Amino acid sequence: MSDSSNLFDKISNYLKLQEQVYAPIMMDAQAFEDATSAVVSAAPETSPEPNIEVKPEPKQEPEKPTRNLSKTPDQSLKEILNACKTLEDLKQVCELADDLKTDLPNTNLVFGVGNPNADLLLIGEAPGANEDRLGEPFVGRAGQLLNKILEAIQFNREDVYIANIVKHRPPENRDPLPKERQRSLPYLERQIDIINPKLILCLGRVSAHTLLETSAPLKDMRSKFHPYREKYELMVTYHPASLLRNPNWKRGTWEDVKMLRKRYDDLDCRP
Ligand code: URA
Repeated sequence: MSDSSNLFDKISNYLKLQEQVYAPIMMDAQAFEDATSAVVSAAPETSPEPNIEVKPEPKQEPEKPTRNLSKTPDQSLKEILNACKTLEDLKQVCELADDLKTDLPNTNLVFGVGNPNADLLLIGEAPGANEDRLGEPFVGRAGQLLNKILEAIQFNREDVYIANIVKHRPPENRDPLPKERQRSLPYLERQIDIINPKLILCLGRVSAHTLLETSAPLKDMRSKFHPYREKYELMVTYHPASLLRNPNWKRGTWEDVKMLRKRYDDLDCRP
């Protein structure tokens, strides 16, 4: 075989390999738009979230005793939380914590879901009706869109960890109040430290404002990495529910999540 055909074969094999490795992530903005549009067009903007049967309803368990942990005289909340070494420990504490509740009665704890060792942690705002019913964050229409966004940057939902600022549903799906966010924060901070991710993605304004302690407009917080509690890199993007109302923000979201995926790869993160 001549030297030139040998070289041609080598180049052609190299290009095929590059294509296999990079093709999936080289989705362009239009492909991202297409991949995420099925959820957006699935229901009119004003319709309430449909009940999407993802899992059977959690069984009704007998009422558990509750305790206001912040008022425990012998042990401060911080000590209780620091004693939690696993997410399971922390979940048990959260189940008992009155101070995580909003003023909507009889809601379920929506603790968080995903890979407990994830290098990427996503933090939304608060559970809605579907999340409350199923005890899992982002299972409604916004959750379906979130899954598509994750798929577009080559993640499964199980590769990452997903939580919310507030762990119980607020009444009438209102934004969680500042006092509710503040009460929830020590629990969330412990959850973050147990997972110990390299990257955090705040979904929306409420999440970013709570963690970054700012009231800056969302557009000023996007497209960059913020140091968070000295240990973590945090990025902010649009909330998936806001993309359902404003599909023209998907272009910016795509830019953000591509940047996030690149940082994840550069830091040698693993699912
Ligand atoms: N919106 C959120 O912020 N979190 C959820 O879990 C669902 C919708």
